[in-house]
Amino acid sequence: MQEHAPHTPPQMTKEQQQARLDSIKKTWEQRRQISRQLGKIKTKIGVYSGKGGVGKTTVSVNLAVYLAHKGYTVGLLDADIDCPNVTKVMGIVNRPEYVEGRLNPAESYGVKVISMSFFQEKEDEAIIWRGPMVHNAINQFIQMTNWGDLDFLLVDLPPGTSDAPLTVMQVLSLDGFVMVTTPQKLAALDARRSINMVRKMNVDVLGIVENFSGEVFGSGAGEALAKDLELPYLGALELRAAYRDDSMPSVLAVSDIMDEYDAIWDRLKPVMSAVNKLPEQRDAAPEATPAPKEPTA
Ligand SMILES: Nc1ncnc2c1ncn2[C@@H]1O[C@H](COP(=O)(O)OP(=O)(O)OP(=O)(O)O)[C@@H](O)[C@H]1O
Ligand SMILES: [Mg+2]
Repeated sequence: MQEHAPHTPPQMTKEQQQARLDSIKKTWEQRRQISRQLGKIKTKIGVYSGKGGVGKTTVSVNLAVYLAHKGYTVGLLDADIDCPNVTKVMGIVNRPEYVEGRLNPAESYGVKVISMSFFQEKEDEAIIWRGPMVHNAINQFIQMTNWGDLDFLLVDLPPGTSDAPLTVMQVLSLDGFVMVTTPQKLAALDARRSINMVRKMNVDVLGIVENFSGEVFGSGAGEALAKDLELPYLGALELRAAYRDDSMPSVLAVSDIMDEYDAIWDRLKPVMSAVNKLPEQRDAAPEATPAPKEPTA
């Protein structure tokens, strides 16, 4: 039987082999560029839930604004490529600057923002991406953005367990996730499913936040879920009419909401500190995201 070099499919012409090699090199160059881009970001946190509409975007935006308010340098990546709405919530009307093939994020309330909606022609236009397109779009998006030095990058993920959130998780090498759930039992089931997925991807779950907490939907399911899954419970965010006012991020507008984020941060900080993921612990380790090694051909 004829022997082949390892991983080389049989009956490849020289040209095919060269094309394959070129494609591998291109992928690695892309990855190296991404890690160079992300290398100056100390801590990357994904905000995620299995179910749609539970408040991921609201939590991402308010947590980003809260951390900026605390004095950190913060970026927010709206990675919900199907339905990006961070810019609307942040009141951003200008598009980011596009300079020599690089995107400089827009800035609002001290947070640098990049969103797929910047590439939409019209606000109500549906963005339809399929398999490989999702992968390419997310890769390009991440590769082109000039974040500069950041303490935190928060990533608002699309819901569910489809290609899009998986790609974001793979490409970004996140430091951990904040999971958002609601007091309803069904949402907790979805949250459990997505937490299992995150755990399979070997990313830390930093804790669970219960949103829409209060008289209408009840409270306690988030804490019970955290206990059950042996994860930190970070706190509750009450259902409030104040969120309907979109003139400014609610955490800055309502002192009770600021208190809720203070409580979440008080719990999140020691969790992150225990795994050496606070930005201040990373000053001594600038290579937070080491560049991948090139494969040997
Ligand atoms: N604690 C709250 N009280 C009242 N309204 C809230 C609260 N949290 C979020 N909302 C509102 O609920 C709606 C859905 O929230 P949001 O867009 O943040 O959810 P999402 O999980 O990002 O949704 P999707 O899965 O579609 O991305 C928004 O209109 C938001 O203003
Ligand atoms: Mg959202």
